[in-house]
Amino acid sequence: MKTILITGSSSGIGKATAKYFAEKGWNVIATMRNPEKEKELTQEENVLVTKLDVTIPETIHHAIAQGISEFSSIDVVLNNAGYAVFGPFEFSTEEQIYHQFQVNVFGVMNTIKAILPHFKQNRNGLIINVSSIAGQISFPLLSLYHATKWSLEGFAESLQYELSQHNIKIKMIEPGNVDTDFTGRSLVTLQHDYKNDYQEYQEIVLSKQLESFENYASKADDIADGIYRVANDTSDQFRYALGDDAQFMLEKRKSKQDIEFIDFIRKQFAY
Ligand SMILES: NC(=O)c1ccc[n+]([C@@H]2O[C@H](COP(=O)([O-])OP(=O)(O)OC[C@H]3O[C@@H](n4cnc5c(N)ncnc54)[C@H](OP(=O)(O)O)[C@@H]3O)[C@@H](O)[C@H]2O)c1
Repeated sequence: MKTILITGSSSGIGKATAKYFAEKGWNVIATMRNPEKEKELTQEENVLVTKLDVTIPETIHHAIAQGISEFSSIDVVLNNAGYAVFGPFEFSTEEQIYHQFQVNVFGVMNTIKAILPHFKQNRNGLIINVSSIAGQISFPLLSLYHATKWSLEGFAESLQYELSQHNIKIKMIEPGNVDTDFTGRSLVTLQHDYKNDYQEYQEIVLSKQLESFENYASKADDIADGIYRVANDTSDQFRYALGDDAQFMLEKRKSKQDIEFIDFIRKQFAY
């Protein structure tokens, strides 16, 4: 029986994926910052719910050790934990910038570093990073979030070369809009205490983003199904667009020159 460790399993894509893999007969190490609050996943037989905060390396090492002791081995790690900062870059504090990277980029690096000795020992392992179409294209007022997802893409694309000699693979999943808490509690809006001359633009962009979310969002269960297919794909494919909107946008990006694509996005958020 195979085992997957998932970060950010308390809600959204992480939780749906934990349930999906458990239903398919996998062992699941469902990690989260506050495992004491979890009531659903704890009922599943082959699911170990345990603490892991991607910003605290000791919790990562502890969750991995616990998972190995419970299930004897880990086959797949899903780096899913993440959130987005929204708003004008000018209003961001140093702490907000650092924390965005701390969770979305350094958290992934911490987790990968912690699992590598185990994967190398097994001469086998798969790392799946939850990136986004936001790691290939950019929308207005999400500069910090895009910076983290683009960063993750470059980091992982380079890393996969050195890991392939140890039979360790990396795959990136790139969803479009997904119906989760992401646009609620996982969206941190930048505040300002002086005249906000971006206000009108900010309102337009947010309303258009939410409109596109309502019209095109995939269900978290469909993304979980996609992740399951990716986990079972033995090919060397590196990037996977998940969701119709993701396929559409990434195809569009590939088919256009920078200047045309930027103009296309600009017109979508015109005011
Ligand atoms: N929803 C979308 O439209 C969408 C599209 C593309 C990609 N994504 C990506 O999908 C991933 C999951 O997001 P989601 O949509 O499922 O949103 P979500 O339901 O808000 O889930 C975010 C998860 O990240 C966890 N998290 C935040 N900081 C953490 C930390 N320091 N350590 C461990 N876990 C932490 C949260 O845990 P707590 O409960 O402890 O806060 C929560 O479980 C993110 O990487 C996001 O960038 C989302």
